[in-house]
Amino acid sequence: MSSIVVTGRVPQEAVGLLRGAGHEVRVWEHDEPVARDELLGLVAGADALVTLVTERVDTGLLDAAGPGLRVVANVAVGYDNIDVAACAGRGVVVTNTPGVLEEATADLAMALVLMTTRRLGEAERLVRSGQAWQWGMGLLLGRGLQGRTLGVVGLGGIGTATARRARAFGMTIVYSGRRDAPAEIVEELGARRVELPELLEAGDVVTLHLPYGPATHHLVGADELALLGATSYLVNTARGPVVDETALVAALRDGTIAGAGLDVYENEPQVHPGLLELDNVVLLPHVGSATIETRTGMARLAARNVLAVLAGEGPVTPVGDV
Ligand code: GLV
Repeated sequence: MSSIVVTGRVPQEAVGLLRGAGHEVRVWEHDEPVARDELLGLVAGADALVTLVTERVDTGLLDAAGPGLRVVANVAVGYDNIDVAACAGRGVVVTNTPGVLEEATADLAMALVLMTTRRLGEAERLVRSGQAWQWGMGLLLGRGLQGRTLGVVGLGGIGTATARRARAFGMTIVYSGRRDAPAEIVEELGARRVELPELLEAGDVVTLHLPYGPATHHLVGADELALLGATSYLVNTARGPVVDETALVAALRDGTIAGAGLDVYENEPQVHPGLLELDNVVLLPHVGSATIETRTGMARLAARNVLAVLAGEGPVTPVGDV
């Protein structure tokens, strides 16, 4: 019997899988993320951790867990909350949850594309405000997507699923990334690979689907936003620090870009106060994968990873390099 710590509330089914395999499972059963000092106590002696993006897995946490720790299974596709090198140095396997959240996250990215281009946040706020309004030719005019170009930064699973949706709305796809996407995906989407500056210039909407790490810190800053231009929009469902939030506030305020849709923030859960003052930005609370089915799938996959490693088998979905 191994000792497994789940650092936040996850669908019960996943905990059931772990307990059903005969392991002792301790779960942080609260809605708020566990405080750091409490977390350090909770993980002591654990053989496996199931972690959420709100927990930082660094040397301090690995020390607190102790030498028996064998696997950290993050319930997310992103794993910038984990010091993967420190884990590798101690022989701790790190896993994530690709393959189960692409559709839900792409749905949300597409929702943000529509919300920003059609000004739906503003529209909803108007109705809720109780202010008088009536149908008018000029009321809350946005921009249509048909015949426009979507720039996808990172044509992986989520980027591809988002591009598919955009194609159904009549958009043309360009993408950037470290490598060519598989030929069948490129062909299906009719997508063209370009460098980031060209993508920003060509994109009427640019959507970010790349991992966060030192190489992608502030990938989109003032210069990139200037290239995007005054009639174009930025959507970020990846990680906040990929975008320089201060530069984004200035670009939105000055009309350097037309608008933005954000599900993630540079200092999450804090939101830059400048963003809160602006009407041309849609702000969501990191709910990209937040469907019942998807969250259950993510937690189950994390549990399967833990069970595989504890059983001496290879992990199902080990993390790749960022
Ligand atoms: C959520 O943000 C994830 O990375 O899955």
